[in-house]
Amino acid sequence: MAARLRATLTRFSSDSLTPEPPSVVPVCEAGRKTTERGQVGNLRAHCGRGPERFTLGAGMGIKAQVVLPCGELEETLGFFTDRLGFRVDAIYPADDPSVAVISGHGLRLELKRGASGAPGVLRLLVSDRSAFGGALELTAPNGTRIELVDADPPLVVPTVVPSFVLSENGDRAEWGTGRAGMRYRDLVPDRQGGSFIASHIQIPGGGPVPDYVHFHKVRFQMIYCYKGWVRVVYEDQGPPFVLKAGDCVLQPPRIRHRVLESSPGLEVIEIGCPANHETFADHDLALPTSTLRPDRDFEGQRFVRHVAAEASWQPFRLEGFECRDTGIAATTNGIATVRVARPRGTPATKRYRHDADFLFTFVLSGSLTLDVHGRGAPPVAEGTSFVLPPGKLYSFDNCSPDLELLEVALPAAFETVSR
Ligand SMILES: [Fe+2]
Repeated sequence: MAARLRATLTRFSSDSLTPEPPSVVPVCEAGRKTTERGQVGNLRAHCGRGPERFTLGAGMGIKAQVVLPCGELEETLGFFTDRLGFRVDAIYPADDPSVAVISGHGLRLELKRGASGAPGVLRLLVSDRSAFGGALELTAPNGTRIELVDADPPLVVPTVVPSFVLSENGDRAEWGTGRAGMRYRDLVPDRQGGSFIASHIQIPGGGPVPDYVHFHKVRFQMIYCYKGWVRVVYEDQGPPFVLKAGDCVLQPPRIRHRVLESSPGLEVIEIGCPANHETFADHDLALPTSTLRPDRDFEGQRFVRHVAAEASWQPFRLEGFECRDTGIAATTNGIATVRVARPRGTPATKRYRHDADFLFTFVLSGSLTLDVHGRGAPPVAEGTSFVLPPGKLYSFDNCSPDLELLEVALPAAFETVSR
């Protein structure tokens, strides 16, 4: 044991101590003595001076450490350095080490012989588990359980469980309070088996939004500005811009973005796939970025900013309707399509069915009667949304002249059959 720890001490002192300039590393009187362990004498001196010892070697930027007890130091230290790749920052006392400070994987640990407490669980995010013999879990000699977790697991999208969902706005609507004063209304409570989430989000007060640069691990995500305006900024998409009522954005996977400010009474509709997806902060990237890359590929998708005022209208998939297309079908490579539709004159009553995985509609203005086969014909007013499952017959009747519908479908290409 002593020989191994002495070797560790020698390696530590030669790797980490020597490069430090004397002005940075104070040397006490004892440290100037030549001992049988050479520089170990210096090491002992520095280690004995409290915080100064952390000016030595690696892990200098880390200001906190987790104490892990161990009954015996040598074997535990060897496991953490040799097996897990940690490196030694400090070890003391030199003649009989009982404490080793090690750093690695963005973490600093203090292995302390005889310390009280549980040995703990250490979850390592690894990109290549084969470096650890393919293990899912290891146990250190001191009892610390090491969980080896994929640092970037593939996104899993649950299988769609289709259903008819009608979410009315108004007095009966259920609103929840989220962060930063935001109010949320869940438009698809059953989440279609976990595959989709649709939220109606309000910021009643408006003003600066305490957001930070972040990104989402998603297959699909879009935001439609329903009322008011919101100022946002996106990675490589130029300076901040204002998303006005009627505009929308396609947020490709992992694009860094930040919400900056909103008008009072902002309301947006946000659709995401899968329903449960991770959000990560990016503390290193400042927005806006200096580069402008509107055609940048983000996992096969490109950013879209659709401006309603610049859009043109074209025929819609339903007879008697026209639509403005957001272009999202093309930039997502067919994953989704997002359109705003309105009647042209008075559409004839027709029954339709479709074969899309997910067909979501939000009534932006006006009203209609929605007849879904076998479920009656509920009147549908502004602010109401519905999900029409594939194969079900439906019709839009009694459309008011000011009717506008936001329609989101996955995939982009699907068949509409009339009868
Ligand atoms: Fe976001």
